[in-house]
Amino acid sequence: MKKLIVFASGTGSNFQALADHLRTRSDVAIGALVCDKPQAAVIGRAQALGIPVITIDYRAYASKAAAEQALLARLPAADLVVLAGFMRIVGPTLLAAFPDRIINLHPALLPSFPGRTGIEDAWRYGVKVTGVTVHYVDAGIDSGRIIAQAPVAIAVGESLAHLEARIHAVEHDLLPRTVDQLILKGAI
Ligand code: GAR
Repeated sequence: MKKLIVFASGTGSNFQALADHLRTRSDVAIGALVCDKPQAAVIGRAQALGIPVITIDYRAYASKAAAEQALLARLPAADLVVLAGFMRIVGPTLLAAFPDRIINLHPALLPSFPGRTGIEDAWRYGVKVTGVTVHYVDAGIDSGRIIAQAPVAIAVGESLAHLEARIHAVEHDLLPRTVDQLILKGAI
């Protein structure tokens, strides 16, 4: 049985999509949700699914390394860590614990529009095509090796809210499919 740990900070619609998809498989499951925001809606989603929740308050530690060290001590064993709307840069401590085993979902076509506001940045720039990327996490910001991408054409006059909804719908499909592919390829 493969085990995933999902990290998320907010609404958790991608956590939900992944969890819903994985319920159709008997050989892989989410072993824990890690959340850095105690009020985040994703926590309720995990609780409703019976998935253990690990919350971490980074501000309670002197450094990111100390926070990650404390977090590591609480994590179950895992074959893959999935960042699904986790709004922090992963530090060297966590990276070293899961070499080539941390992937991130990003709502733009990297290397364009990295960072926290990829959908809005692409929309404001006026690109005609944006999209969704799943990539390995390295020490940079959204800079790791790309695993999968899906394009989303921006319609003339499309509102940001409308584009956001369409990007999220593509994410909800791409992330579970990418996890399936990684397992199929024997990458985890
Ligand atoms: C998603 O759009 C994800 O791609 C983005 O946060 C959103 C989380 O939504 N992540 C980043 O921007 C990371 N740089 P969700 O909480 O509903 O899954």
